[in-house]
Amino acid sequence: MPRQLDNTETALNRTHLLPLVRQTGGPVWVYDASVIHQRISQLQRFDVVRFAQKACSNIHILRLMRAAGVKVDSVSLGEIERALAAGFQPGGDDIVFTADVIDQPTLARLAALKIPVNAGSVDMLHQLGQVSPGHSVWLRINPGFGHGHSQKTNTGGENSKHGIWHSDLALALEAIQRYQLKLLGIHMHIGSGVDYGHLEQVCDAMVSQVIEFGQDLQAISAGGGLSVPYHYGEEAINTDHYFGLWDAARQRVADHLGHAVKLEIEPGRFLVAESGVLVAQVRAVKQMGSRHFVLVDAGFNDLMRPAMYGSYHHISAIAADGRELHEEKTLESVVAGPLCESGDVFTQQEGGMVETRALPEVRVGDYLVFHDTGAYGASMSSNYNSRPLLPEFLFENGQPRQIRRAQTIQELIALEQ
Ligand code: LLP
Repeated sequence: MPRQLDNTETALNRTHLLPLVRQTGGPVWVYDASVIHQRISQLQRFDVVRFAQKACSNIHILRLMRAAGVKVDSVSLGEIERALAAGFQPGGDDIVFTADVIDQPTLARLAALKIPVNAGSVDMLHQLGQVSPGHSVWLRINPGFGHGHSQKTNTGGENSKHGIWHSDLALALEAIQRYQLKLLGIHMHIGSGVDYGHLEQVCDAMVSQVIEFGQDLQAISAGGGLSVPYHYGEEAINTDHYFGLWDAARQRVADHLGHAVKLEIEPGRFLVAESGVLVAQVRAVKQMGSRHFVLVDAGFNDLMRPAMYGSYHHISAIAADGRELHEEKTLESVVAGPLCESGDVFTQQEGGMVETRALPEVRVGDYLVFHDTGAYGASMSSNYNSRPLLPEFLFENGQPRQIRRAQTIQELIALEQ
């Protein structure tokens, strides 16, 4: 059964996508604001929902988040400027900068704007303190374990470069005292795609770290990592259960400190993954030995997740001429892009093993829709093979609006002239 394409609850259906992609004449990212609003509302019980904008940093998406009361996390100078351009205010806690290292230009900008820093290394605290004594900080703790949908998205434990190692908190405290830094809270993000078992473990780790650390603080952050059902029929995360576990941890921290403590959450994927699709056109169909290949005009420079992590994205088809595509008459197909790399395949396992997908028989000119690509889709695109970035459209109340024009090849070349 095709996912979403017959769904009239969102704009990500055949009726809306076909005219749009015909008009743009090339691959296109399309989002539906209503899905994002729905996901935001599911996290309402957290005191602060902070969007990890690395998942989808288009300024118009950031504006939508801000209008809905969501705050933002930035991980680079570019992401700070994006947050500011979207109207997030410096000075307060609208924007938090999270990183394990801090370069000179970023440091200068953070100091000038007084944007709180979530420090992932003790060195960062020293560098910040020297330039900006009294600056507000969070401590990102690596609790010594992690978990992710791929080894590459596991951000805890000794094989991950992230965070301040849990037994180094005394060193962090020393730096905080030396530069009179203002400690706002403790943060843990152990990876993307965290399951309930690891969640309980990280909640316990948070409570014991706060107790051991022995410092007063106003907030704790649960980080991000909430998974989404990429596979059709997969169960979605229960946000009430998720909140309940963290709320209990917050309560234990508050009991220990003797005052209320705010609870933040910092999702990227959960807020935007299901809001977006990539639509690409079939440009060649070929049989190679036992394999049936469907080649489209978008590559891993556009959607990197399958090549990078072996990530699964549901793929459905739209006939260009409006003919009915029969879902019951499918062909096991390898779906690949135009790049000069064998790894430019959208149907593959982690490690590169090519897989097939049962797709209706498509012809040159038809379209394939890559679902749930609103997170880490456009934001991870590159210019590899000198391919310009694709345009982005946002549906609001059923109406599409272009929120990024396509990059031009002239713009790429101009950097070298
Ligand atoms: N907070 C911190 C400190 C993070 O490092 C991340 C993700 C998040 C929040 C948001 O995680 P999320 O809720 O989106 O899982 N490119 C990979 C994901 C890398 C995530 C890196 N950090 C992917 O496509 O799955």
